[in-house]
Amino acid sequence: MYCTKKITDDLIWVGADDRRLAMFEGVYAVPHGVSYNSYLLLDEKTVLFDTVDRAAHQRFFENVAAALGSRPLDYLVIQHMEPDHSSALIEIAVRYPGVKIVCNEKTLALIKQFYDFDAGEGAYIVGEGDALNTGRHTLNFIMAPMVHWPEVMVTYDSSTGTLFSADAFGSFGALNGALFSDEVDFNRDYMDEARRYYTNIVGKYGWQVSALLNKASALSLELICPLHGFIWRGNVRDIMSKYLLWSAYEPEEYGVMIAYASVYGNTENAAEILACRLRERGVRTAMYDVSVTPASSILSEAFRWSHLVFASTTYNAGIFVAMESVINDLVAHNIQNRTVAIIENGSWAAMSGELIRLKLLECRNMNIIENIITINSGLKTPQLAEIDALADALAASLPPSAIVKPRGFYAAERAGAPDVVPAANRVDMKTMFKLSYGLFVLTVRDGDRDNGCIINTVAQMTETPLRISITVNKANYTHDVIIKTGAFNVSVLDTGVPFSVFERFGFQSGRDKDKFAGSGWDSRAENGIRYMPKYTNGVIAARVAESYDYGTHTLFVADVTEAFALSDEPSVTYQYYFDNIKPKPKPPQKDVSGFVCRICGYMYEGDELPADYVCPLCKHGPDDFERIG
Ligand code: FEO
Repeated sequence: MYCTKKITDDLIWVGADDRRLAMFEGVYAVPHGVSYNSYLLLDEKTVLFDTVDRAAHQRFFENVAAALGSRPLDYLVIQHMEPDHSSALIEIAVRYPGVKIVCNEKTLALIKQFYDFDAGEGAYIVGEGDALNTGRHTLNFIMAPMVHWPEVMVTYDSSTGTLFSADAFGSFGALNGALFSDEVDFNRDYMDEARRYYTNIVGKYGWQVSALLNKASALSLELICPLHGFIWRGNVRDIMSKYLLWSAYEPEEYGVMIAYASVYGNTENAAEILACRLRERGVRTAMYDVSVTPASSILSEAFRWSHLVFASTTYNAGIFVAMESVINDLVAHNIQNRTVAIIENGSWAAMSGELIRLKLLECRNMNIIENIITINSGLKTPQLAEIDALADALAASLPPSAIVKPRGFYAAERAGAPDVVPAANRVDMKTMFKLSYGLFVLTVRDGDRDNGCIINTVAQMTETPLRISITVNKANYTHDVIIKTGAFNVSVLDTGVPFSVFERFGFQSGRDKDKFAGSGWDSRAENGIRYMPKYTNGVIAARVAESYDYGTHTLFVADVTEAFALSDEPSVTYQYYFDNIKPKPKPPQKDVSGFVCRICGYMYEGDELPADYVCPLCKHGPDDFERIG
């Protein structure tokens, strides 16, 4: 039975999921399956974009037949000749005689190589910039060589802003009934697989991906339809911003990934001790045993983190096999721009470290820390100083904003004193609202992406040096950008600020929305970061000096780099906001019962508010909800 999904009035997904495939391309485990996407455009002419893997033929042909109904198929666009997308080509030609194959010259040659099939007279050969009008739609063909194979092209439907992107913007993972990335929690559940897909499939071709991104930046994009994974609609910035980083080999996260190979646990022990020392210094860490974690995941994590440590035992006078495979993979995929440290182990002839170093020297712009730590069988007490020195060197090479002092830091400072936990009946949370908070728009810049959020936690700390502190919820995208860039602006809101500013910056996520869209506010401070030129009486630009982890929030201590006043309007306070700006909650309907958020007005319907409930709009917890009805 067919299983199609409507994308727009005249575009239908006719692909299929595959959850039985163990190894994609025979190399990459796909524990969450994979989708083969094919799309059918029903215009005055009918157009099929690519086909599917042979594993999905039956469903695919049922889908195409059902979506076409009694209509003929006029065109089959082959954007990518890899068999997971082209294997149904011949049968399509047999089932739909008269179909014209639309492809480029390189594709034509590959068709003959793979299938001994001559698209011949029936082929419509296109090149860069060629267009095909199908009635209401105009398809523009854009060459994207080496994203993933040399023949790859993408197709832009200029009438709807749809990019059929071939392998680009795809992901591992079956669709499981959804079709659009906004139907799932993509960041939480799929971003790791999107990264693993990108890095392993096209990670080597960053320059070519950048060339495609440049071409795409000139297009108005409403929909991106890749050959694997979810369709992007409206929220293309999230995946675009990742592609900009990945293709430039820039890290997403500042911290240290430790990959180790250990036969009897001694190399692992050294890696664990290093990880502890790094955490004590406020450095974020991720650890992988290369004998357990697939190389494709470690490659993906290497693209993610800024600093890499490889700890490997020596094996047969070489690098331990699983580690050698990881290092070869990294080199083959062009990893670059990373700081690297190496630990080697060898009971009689330790040499894995130097061999790893030599291999990594083939990569561009790798800062390899000179001192390789050598272990002979097991780490000994005098060598702890070497581990400490390595932890110091790694921490020193990270930007200050990425050094997040752990909570334990304070406990140690207080010589083991227990945390003060006030008795519940001694704390009236309303007292917190008596604090004379101001309200501020906190703005950041991540590459060419601007973002901001509302905070109430700005305070001057010292005058010499001129320092401020801010506390930012870790759930906010703005938080992650500060960790990454170490820079931000604070716009001090004045009493003229309307509620719409709080809606704009406080009630939507910058991960999938451009919060400045349609604002007309494009003023920037010296640091290049936007600020609010309106409803603002002063702007403070700052650079992070230190960061402290407080569980749900990070406290940033920052040096002021610029400050200027915009008006003499009084600053808005939390109290003023509640009294004069925030719309008053409507009286509850008689038959509605639930809880309303005192901060943003969000209404939770139900008799019980879960103890761990978090407001989906403003991220405040149960203490800020009051019962209604
Ligand atoms: Fe899914 Fe490069 O093919």
